[in-house]
Amino acid sequence: MILVTGGAGYIGSHCAMALIEKGYDVIVFDNLSTGHLKTLETLKNIARSNNFNFLKGDLLNTENLNKAFSSGNIEAVIHFAAFSQVGESVKDPAKYYRNNICGTLNLLDAMRKYNVDKIVFSSTAATYGEPVRIPIDETHPQNPINPYGFSKLAIEKIMDDFDRAYNIKSVRLRYFNVAGADSKSRLGEWHEPETHLIPNILKSTFANSKTFQMFGTDYDTKDGTCVRDYINIEDLVQAHLLSLEYLKKGGKTDFFNLGTKTGNTVKEVFTLCEKVTAKDISVETKPRREGDPAQLVADNTKAKQILGWRPEKTLEDSIKSAFQWEKKLQAQINS
Ligand code: UFG
Repeated sequence: MILVTGGAGYIGSHCAMALIEKGYDVIVFDNLSTGHLKTLETLKNIARSNNFNFLKGDLLNTENLNKAFSSGNIEAVIHFAAFSQVGESVKDPAKYYRNNICGTLNLLDAMRKYNVDKIVFSSTAATYGEPVRIPIDETHPQNPINPYGFSKLAIEKIMDDFDRAYNIKSVRLRYFNVAGADSKSRLGEWHEPETHLIPNILKSTFANSKTFQMFGTDYDTKDGTCVRDYINIEDLVQAHLLSLEYLKKGGKTDFFNLGTKTGNTVKEVFTLCEKVTAKDISVETKPRREGDPAQLVADNTKAKQILGWRPEKTLEDSIKSAFQWEKKLQAQINS
């Protein structure tokens, strides 16, 4: 059985779905602070047999964790549960350090207690901070510039120590910009409030919605807007399945960038959204958003070599699936 923390959230739910479809027994542990019950209903409907369970619980509550670990034979953990908004982490660092770091420490302690020795962890490109070279490989210095990035880096360090001292093996996946939705539109990105680029552009195409705001057009990039590396959610999920297999085969603790090695500017993404939606999307130009580096592009060679991972989907694929999902979400909101 695989324990998926944060399995009611965007990335966690897509991963739980892929695990269920592969025939793994899955238990989702989520406090529903940002995840959705409706997402869990979808997962339950997808699980053909009895291979999906949900436990409402909080990582800060050790009793909840005991319940999760004692409920079955947990073979490995895939850990998504975390707060993930950079801006919010600057305003309220205590929330991020307590939830992300203390919560993970409790999870790792529970793993020790119940002799579970494999964990796949969602880390982030935000652990690198302001890039000193592009593309960013895994040896790039890690100097996060916000509490969110620091909380994830602290966990990476804790995981190294837990390997040395207690032999808990981890794979840390450093995500760049995750985009898109399940290609059958069963699940998708559903944040409240939404802060990410692609869903915000797409949302602005619906009636009574806010005009899309483009933050910063004076960066030192080819068209003045920020460059990001957009990795499709389904490709990203595949890397988690490969990481799990890697650990099951006795792989050592390691960390990998998950990106495409291709950068796209905000303006390029916007233009592609206009093409996919066949709409002229109105846009308001705003000053730079605090804490946004000009460019973040991953060198993904290591994940290709060691995990045998290959991202296959294009940015256009991600925008198409995100748009399909967004239409479904809007219909749900308006019903
Ligand atoms: N942007 C806009 N308008 C919006 C939203 C975003 O112009 O409404 C711009 C941002 O300023 C940035 C780019 O679009 O230039 C991408 O922004 P996102 O918020 O979509 O993504 P980030 O690159 O800020 O953040 C993502 C993850 C974080 C993670 C980070 C790692 O959301 O969790 O990558 O670098 F920390």
